[in-house]
Amino acid sequence: MNADAIADRAQGAWGALAEIDSFIERTHDERLADYLEFLRIPSIGTLHAHDADTQRAAGFLVERLRNMGFDNVEASPTGGHPIVYADWLHAEGAPTVLVYTHYDVQPVDPLDLWDRPPFDPVVENGRVYARGAADDKSHGHLHLWAARAWLETQGRLPVNLRIVFEGEEESGSEHFDAWILANRHRLTADLAMISDTGFFEGNHPAITVGLRGLVYMQIDVTGSRLDLHSGSFGGNVQNPANALATIISKLKNEDGTITVPGFYDEVRDLTDQERSEFERLSLDESSFIKDHGLYEIWGDPEFSVLQRRGAQPTLDVNGIWGGFSGEGSKTIIPAHAHAKVSCRIVPDMDPDKTFERVSDYVASIAPEGVKVDVVLTNHGMWSRTPIDNPFVQTAADCLEEVFGERPFYLYEGGSVPAGATFSDKLGLPVLLLGFTQPDDQAHAPNESMRLDNYEGGLRTLVRYWDRLGAKAGQARE
Ligand code: BES
Ligand code: MN
Ligand code: MN
Repeated sequence: MNADAIADRAQGAWGALAEIDSFIERTHDERLADYLEFLRIPSIGTLHAHDADTQRAAGFLVERLRNMGFDNVEASPTGGHPIVYADWLHAEGAPTVLVYTHYDVQPVDPLDLWDRPPFDPVVENGRVYARGAADDKSHGHLHLWAARAWLETQGRLPVNLRIVFEGEEESGSEHFDAWILANRHRLTADLAMISDTGFFEGNHPAITVGLRGLVYMQIDVTGSRLDLHSGSFGGNVQNPANALATIISKLKNEDGTITVPGFYDEVRDLTDQERSEFERLSLDESSFIKDHGLYEIWGDPEFSVLQRRGAQPTLDVNGIWGGFSGEGSKTIIPAHAHAKVSCRIVPDMDPDKTFERVSDYVASIAPEGVKVDVVLTNHGMWSRTPIDNPFVQTAADCLEEVFGERPFYLYEGGSVPAGATFSDKLGLPVLLLGFTQPDDQAHAPNESMRLDNYEGGLRTLVRYWDRLGAKAGQARE
């Protein structure tokens, strides 16, 4: 390419981005209204009472992708909630990016702790408050509008896109892997971009390069057919609630480490690079405690807070019930007691093996006199993205350009099962690029999305597509 051509290309790209930025400014009100409309759909994927709403959220996306000129747009059946698929493959010679977000949201209880109704979005303090405002409708909506900004102003996208928007992420991605495998012929790509993560504490731009996996199970303890009179039977039977408490108390040591034999065997040591990324991050522990309303930080003393979040496994009781908890007293020995237990897993732990180890151990410590079952509910794999991957570095350049800071690289504690699916089943590099912030209260009452992050996210995405397309252009010449 000669100097004039380089100047032309730079001018061209600059011209396109200038037009796109002005489109973004011009459409601010319309975009916000459209985002709020998406947020009004109560797509709680895990509750059957909201099945029709969850379908409606898929329909919202399908309609917009069609209107924009995407091809092969459909809400593709999975056996559960559909996967919204669409493609736009007319950027000849440019890379193809598979874009993932999820349109299902978490349940809203406890409802009385919301300051505003969860599906009646309100803009206040530079944020949008609603269930799903951050996790993950922000990103689905951003991708719609990033594509629209290009298509409406330039009549094209600089890259090829394949859209895969899931509706079962929050309920464990039950049908996801099977759908991906059955549709792999139409999922060829150079990169999978997952937009379901965010920035670092203090709202510093970040790219997530590690996610934990999840193994979710239920422990059921049964002692009798019906509840028993505790006077007539107390002393002559094992109490399922006590037995469950005994089991749970033996799962962890006092320092927070997990007692299950072999649990840590496959946990990989941090590499020097991972260690140095952790060292670059400084967490202000007192504001962490204050911002999240914690009593105290507590955990395995061998590791820092961030290492415990991103690089260590966990075992936690998520819920525990059984017997009587109503008003007053009721003298019974409960017939059964239950706990939901989850483990976050890290490289190189195996979900099936982890489940087997926990359930074998529970069986081995189960008190006599009751029946104890451990049932696997769902699991998802951890994932890791190499920081030096050029797709990651280009994303870092775009974040820096828009947000004015070089991003941090994060090892997050949460899970997005799709990450491992794209890398293991489709062999794709995975970029986790998202714009939410740690105080968004995802999964909790009063979830919100910062609008400056939303706007910056849009500018980052349109630039990222431009950068990837331009690189391919240079490589061809
Ligand atoms: N967006 C989150 C995952 C996440 C959380 C990433 C925190 C980074 C930081 C996702 O929607 C989520 O909540 N996932 C579930 C997965 C589960 C239901 C299989 C999770 O992590 O609990
Ligand atoms: Mn999410
Ligand atoms: Mn979530």
